[in-house]
Amino acid sequence: MKKIGIIGGGAMGSGIAQVFAQKGHSVALYDTNQEALYRSKQNLAKTFEKLVAKEKYTEDQAQEIQQNIEYVSDLAAFAEVDLMIEAIVENLEIKQAVFKQVEEIVSDTCILASNTSSLSIASIASACTKPERVIGIHFFNPAPLMALVEIIPAVQTQEGLAEEIKTLIQSVGKLPVITKDTPGFIVNRVARPFYGEAIRILEEGVADTETIDFAMTSLGGFRMGPFELMDFIGHDVNYRVTESVFEAFFYDPRFKPSFSQKRLFEAGYYGRKSGRGFYNYAEGIEKKAP
Ligand code: NAI
Repeated sequence: MKKIGIIGGGAMGSGIAQVFAQKGHSVALYDTNQEALYRSKQNLAKTFEKLVAKEKYTEDQAQEIQQNIEYVSDLAAFAEVDLMIEAIVENLEIKQAVFKQVEEIVSDTCILASNTSSLSIASIASACTKPERVIGIHFFNPAPLMALVEIIPAVQTQEGLAEEIKTLIQSVGKLPVITKDTPGFIVNRVARPFYGEAIRILEEGVADTETIDFAMTSLGGFRMGPFELMDFIGHDVNYRVTESVFEAFFYDPRFKPSFSQKRLFEAGYYGRKSGRGFYNYAEGIEKKAP
């Protein structure tokens, strides 16, 4: 699998593109939004400026890696890809439409993967004429730094494909685990009560966001507290994942979304990416210890 096609040039798609480009794969990164592609390219250039300054890469290596990524606004570039990874909005109908569309362009042997955090891979595959080539490959944010990758074969996925993907993921320096196609897989399932309980503590007035984050990072050993982490992930993504896991578990109250997060989502206060979430980043007020 030499050539990788990625759909969605946001936080995840850009990071995944970097992961493969760093290991010598040629990558086509597609987005319907030109500005997202422009931002993705600019951010990668800044990242490599820093990596060169830290002497992690030479100037030549940095150039070569960046040139491995082609930013495309036409899916025709996917005719030659061996593996497509979709990293667009967390919405089943939109993902299904994209898989249908891409299947008309890619070769018969191309593998189709979704980076979904929580949606059913079986449902995504059901939109395809060759569902046996569909699989979940779930990277974590930021993809270049996080080692873990969940690999999720659906009931339709052909025998042996998960192992093949596992080898590929290991070859780009990541630590893959194979998990069943259940809502939230491993990490996002365990993480739901973590976020949910933190928000309930906030709503009950037990402590404020700074205190809860401070307790979890300083005393709980987490690198980020729950509110910092939700702001980092983005409430558009995180709220949708909670909603989808709640629904997929037949409305089990353990996974119930909260109104506090729903209101942030509805207001467009997505967190770091929009300048405001539980914390206000736009005014330069970074999260601070209480
Ligand atoms: P994002 O909002 O940063 O980026 C999504 C990108 O997809 C945007 O640039 C948008 O223009 C593009 N897009 C939307 N619809 C499209 C379409 N039909 N065709 C082509 N491009 C389209 O979102 P993010 O955070 O990168 O998430 C993407 C996926 O990865 C979601 O399924 C999410 O659940 C999953 N994910 C997110 C993580 C996170 O921490 N943000 C972690 C792991 C997985």
